[in-house]
Amino acid sequence: MNQAEPIDRLPCLLSIEDLDPHQLLNLLDRADALAAMPALPRKDLLRGRTVMNLFFEPSTRTRVSFEVAAQRLGADVVNFDVARSSTTKGESLLDTISTLSAMQPDVFIVRHANSEALEAIAEHLPTQQSLINAGDGCRQHPTQGLLDMLTIRQHKQRFDDLKVVIVGDIRHSRVARSAVDALQILGTRSIELVAPEPLQPDAGELGGLSASSNLDQAIEGADVVMALRLQRERMADGLVPDVGQYFRDYGLTEPRLLAAHPDCIVMHPGPFNREVEISSPLADGDRSVIWNQVGNGVAVRMAVLEAATAALD
Ligand code: NCD
Repeated sequence: MNQAEPIDRLPCLLSIEDLDPHQLLNLLDRADALAAMPALPRKDLLRGRTVMNLFFEPSTRTRVSFEVAAQRLGADVVNFDVARSSTTKGESLLDTISTLSAMQPDVFIVRHANSEALEAIAEHLPTQQSLINAGDGCRQHPTQGLLDMLTIRQHKQRFDDLKVVIVGDIRHSRVARSAVDALQILGTRSIELVAPEPLQPDAGELGGLSASSNLDQAIEGADVVMALRLQRERMADGLVPDVGQYFRDYGLTEPRLLAAHPDCIVMHPGPFNREVEISSPLADGDRSVIWNQVGNGVAVRMAVLEAATAALD
């Protein structure tokens, strides 16, 4: 790992597919290097830069970790309060963006329920202002994909011969889409998607993979199991009528994990629902890397912010 030097400028990160394997691994290396760097020299890396956080959907860990990451690099952070903004007075999204853009921030971090909104903002911004997607509808969540890869690499030191199982509401999950893209870019050969039928993606839609509905079969010999939240805010009513039954069929538990590799790690992007997607003993136990994921979120977001502002002046 030799990432003492920042990587090339990344003016726009809308999707994990914007990255080639070299860029993706460089960001992971740089995330490790920045996490290990002493606080004071690190604080100079983005001094004088302004980062604007615009979250049009709720968020705890993503918004706060972008803010922590920006502050650790010395940037000034503006948290745009959507609920109290002129968007509630009928101002269009792009007029709001023009208004903020005229104040000359260096980076926009945007979460929006609508993927087209991110594309439209990307086309609208001047080239010297960078845009990072913090989650767009069901489509992409690239910094989550990066933090998931960093967490897997820290525990498994490789990607190619891993068996990775992703279970839960895959149909509505931008986390799953970004994870599958990243794993495929990094050469992971065995990725299994598991969900009840109504929550399965359309055939081949995620990296050409098909989904199954048998978790116990999929989990055999797994090195990594990632559970996803039931994203009710994106679901038609009635898709998961019985949460207790869902937990019995698709919930991760310690007994269920006995079929996995003895060193299998358990991931969840959060927020997680105990005894729905994962049992408390498993979430709080030794296999769980859920809090490592949160910590790694700050590291990868530092790397992405640095890349977003590299060679700007
Ligand atoms: C996810 C999201 O918002 O896409 N959370 C996150 O960013 N860590 C997943 C979710 O909401 O279930």
